[in-house]
Amino acid sequence: MKILGIETSCDETAAAVVENGRKILSSVVSTSLLLHDKTGGVIPEVAAREQVKCMIPVLNATMQQCNNATMNDIDAIAVTVGPGLIGSLLVGVETAKTLSFLYKKPLIPINHIFAHVYANWLKSGSDLQGSKGLTPSFPAIGLVVSGGHTELFFLKNHRNWKWIGGTLDDASGEAFDKTARLLGLGYPGGPAIAAAAAKFDPDSIGTKFEIRLPRPMMDSKDFNFSFSGLKTAVIREVKRLKEMHELTNAKMQELAYEIQEAITDVLVRKTFDAAKKYNVKSILLGGGVAANKRLKEKLLVHRSSFIVKVPSANLCTDNAAVIASMAYFHHKPLSWEKVQAEPNLSVEV
Ligand code: KG4
Ligand code: ZN
Repeated sequence: MKILGIETSCDETAAAVVENGRKILSSVVSTSLLLHDKTGGVIPEVAAREQVKCMIPVLNATMQQCNNATMNDIDAIAVTVGPGLIGSLLVGVETAKTLSFLYKKPLIPINHIFAHVYANWLKSGSDLQGSKGLTPSFPAIGLVVSGGHTELFFLKNHRNWKWIGGTLDDASGEAFDKTARLLGLGYPGGPAIAAAAAKFDPDSIGTKFEIRLPRPMMDSKDFNFSFSGLKTAVIREVKRLKEMHELTNAKMQELAYEIQEAITDVLVRKTFDAAKKYNVKSILLGGGVAANKRLKEKLLVHRSSFIVKVPSANLCTDNAAVIASMAYFHHKPLSWEKVQAEPNLSVEV
């Protein structure tokens, strides 16, 4: 079964064709990220206008890349209905409804946060350093870490998911983005912090490693997260260093390193605790922050106890292949009249 997926929840316009939930036949992502660098965050109106411009060229490119397929070759259409920015979601949802109506194809609405976990079923989805070649086994823990979400799920099987915890305030991606802004690094903050952190070597001779940030809620006995305190601690640290005229490049890199350590320490501890508590076979990562190499490294320490799947970076960030994949495993079509953009779609199942 070939499913055409469409994803426009935030700054990206994406389409993909996936066969039987696993094989990516084509995948195209156009992003307006560069436009948002100047503003340090996504401006919804700017993003939606770009998506209106890009939607049809992206669809054309996707079909061309798929051996010049036509809609006759497509068995169903899947689209992100939420959560996300309303103006952005509407572009994808209305496009998918129109295609479904015109070509009489089943239409499958998808929650994009759940879909991030499906990067782990996609063929190019297994990272070379991860549990290579192994398909995810149930039961599993899914960790979705993105710009707006930090969610832990217990997956008994494809149909049976339970939300077990999430962030009480800022998401982990948001923590990267906001602290990067405090350090004057670009947007998106995750890759910028990771790049600055890579320049800091805590083991080098003569390095005075003295910045220590909090690991919020790391020892709480639940599976919730809180990252806003980290941002406050970084504000305090930047102020202190400025006052002492010590905010050098080296100190900025040390701060970036410690920010990345703090965020990834908390994510890994909670995920590992959940995996033990629910006695699962696999740990499945998804979402933009899963592209973080340090997070991968720390999770892979546990690969002798669990199948640890960390998708390749291009499948971690927003794309439509995960939407089409999830639709294959959750084939619940609705008539196009009933499908609607749902910006506040819940993840708590
Ligand atoms: O899933 P995503 O592409 O979009 C949504 O938010 O839905 O995630 C974007 C987030 C941003 O906060 C960005 O800073 C973060 O993912 N991110 C990273 C990395 N690449 C992207 N965070 C840490 N390390 C990275 N390498
Ligand atoms: Zn996302």
